[in-house]
Amino acid sequence: MSELSLEQLQQELASAVLDTPEAVEAFRRRWIGRKSVVAALMQRIREIPPEQRRAYGQQVNALKAAAEAKFREAVETLKAQELEAKQAAIDVTLDGVPLEPGAYHPLSVVMQQVVSIFRELGFETVEGPEIVDDWHNFTALNTPEDHPAREMQDTFYVHRHPDWLLRTHTSAVQVYEMERRRPPLRIISPGRVYRNETISARAHCIFHQVEGLYIDTVVTFADLKQTLYTFVQRFFGTGTGVRFRPSYFPFTEPSAEMDIACLICHGKGCSVCKHTGWVEILGCGMVDPQVLLNCNIDPAAYQGFAFGMGIERLAMLKYGIDDIRLFFENDHRFLSQFIGQ
Ligand code: DAH
Repeated sequence: MSELSLEQLQQELASAVLDTPEAVEAFRRRWIGRKSVVAALMQRIREIPPEQRRAYGQQVNALKAAAEAKFREAVETLKAQELEAKQAAIDVTLDGVPLEPGAYHPLSVVMQQVVSIFRELGFETVEGPEIVDDWHNFTALNTPEDHPAREMQDTFYVHRHPDWLLRTHTSAVQVYEMERRRPPLRIISPGRVYRNETISARAHCIFHQVEGLYIDTVVTFADLKQTLYTFVQRFFGTGTGVRFRPSYFPFTEPSAEMDIACLICHGKGCSVCKHTGWVEILGCGMVDPQVLLNCNIDPAAYQGFAFGMGIERLAMLKYGIDDIRLFFENDHRFLSQFIGQ
């Protein structure tokens, strides 16, 4: 090889055809690295008379650069050709890879079920804001100044705005709707609520409720009971037992809580119902006349009932879910169980 002149080598380099992986590999061995012709030419610089060394060095360097450029270009071209060949080899007649269908979030599933049951009963769906003032969340709902729910440790207040807060219940929507419209009113209001709770398997600082409100000239507690009884039969299944217990809410008088017979043990007693056979699912009552007054509705002419329930609780009971945090983690293994619901 060393007998070849620089010119001959330049010609050889220029005419090398690098159209196969083998040709590229042979080219690499001849032109690049410690054992290449270029390396040998570099070695010979010591034999060159000093006055010609500079020119010689420049020529060898140019040869080296040309060889490297040609090699790099050939590698790129080969890679591109390989990719093209691979793509051309795709068999478009093969069956497609099946795509898993998407699923509604279980809370959306339950929300839609609840809303559609009440729609059939004549309730219209409305939504209210999540940031509300003290009036809509507390004062108009007859909640006194010293009520514990108003404490910072229970309610998230908007920074530096003591009158504004994240609604702690969807009952705030009742007030907006009664102020905005005249009775008769028959509304259902699903949405997100916020409470300053420590997160655990049972409680979360964000959860969802559905509020119901019915105002008309003649509305009785019997209407309330029948409406909620019908809801339970349709949501949990015909024959599900219910009971009403007297309770207290500032915005209803009288007030009650409704329980359903435990779906897990059917009333025998288990850990879900704390061995009572019953599980509480909602609060309800006849709208307090003071609340109607607060919203400019004449309590002598109108009366009504209201109720509020937690969506997570309904979902946990219906689907046997034992940890509320699962709803907020977006774990695919959990969510994919609701495909088709
Ligand atoms: N707002 C109550 C809560 O968050 C639930 C509730 C109870 C709503 C009684 C009502 C009602 O409309 O009448 O615990």
